[in-house]
Amino acid sequence: MTTHAQKSTESTESTESAESTQSAAYGDSLAGIYDLLYPPSPEAGLVADFVHGLRPAPATLLELGVGTGRLAVPLAERGFRVHGVDSSAEMLRKLAENDITSTITSSVGDFAVSTVGRRFDVVLLALNTLFMLPSQEQQIAALRNIREQLADDGVAVLEMYDPMVFHGLDEPTVRVHHLAADSLVIDTVQVSRSQQTALVVHTVLGPGTVRKVPEVSRYAWPSEFALMARLAGLRITGRFSDWTRTPVTEGAQRHICVLEREA
Ligand SMILES: C[S@@+](CC[C@H](N)C(=O)[O-])C[C@H]1O[C@@H](n2cnc3c(N)ncnc32)[C@H](O)[C@@H]1O
Repeated sequence: MTTHAQKSTESTESTESAESTQSAAYGDSLAGIYDLLYPPSPEAGLVADFVHGLRPAPATLLELGVGTGRLAVPLAERGFRVHGVDSSAEMLRKLAENDITSTITSSVGDFAVSTVGRRFDVVLLALNTLFMLPSQEQQIAALRNIREQLADDGVAVLEMYDPMVFHGLDEPTVRVHHLAADSLVIDTVQVSRSQQTALVVHTVLGPGTVRKVPEVSRYAWPSEFALMARLAGLRITGRFSDWTRTPVTEGAQRHICVLEREA
């Protein structure tokens, strides 16, 4: 386990696994273009408002799979004391560049198997990142780690897509994202309904270069997620379809769940 130091250094407690290496490869491959794939948008401010409504700044906040700080940086600007964990050292390097508050601390680790050794008022796992863990067992392990890192009166916030986004696809699908005048990403998506997985191959085309970055997303149904959370000692106290707290209704494309420690 390596530890990445920005403004402060913390170690994570874990066992290295093949999956850590895989998720690090994903992050390391996409770190250079991540901010083009997910450019700054008003959504980050809505996330900060949402979290502030649950536990106001200067609450302590742990973001798992923090990436380049799309959310962590605006949260830190809002006054939250943010620590980010990511399996990719490259993502954390970009996070350090983007952190204009110079307050965000970070460590390299796999959130399915590691903890940072202290507890937080808020734990955030956004943008479907739980589904990047390729098995139900690992997803439950991650939820247990979240529980362990929550203060007694802390809240966890998880954002996940509704599985029908992929499960409903009848054949392999292609999506194109323009990055810049001379680069784009083509995503091919292939679903295994029996495995509850979507294999997304990101083909990155730049000037004179082609790279392929595979990503397996193991999706969980909302009822399955609720059961996994209970097994991990967490209970769902809120469920919304967007960051403005719109209730989940039929056809909602995502679920934002608020969880607290089971007594
Ligand atoms: C979809 S990105 C989300 C980044 C950021 N949270 C956001 O909302 O923009 C997922 C991030 O999680 C990281 N990641 C994936 N699996 C991980 C794992 N098991 N442990 C730690 N980080 C992981 C990736 O390297 C990547 O930076």
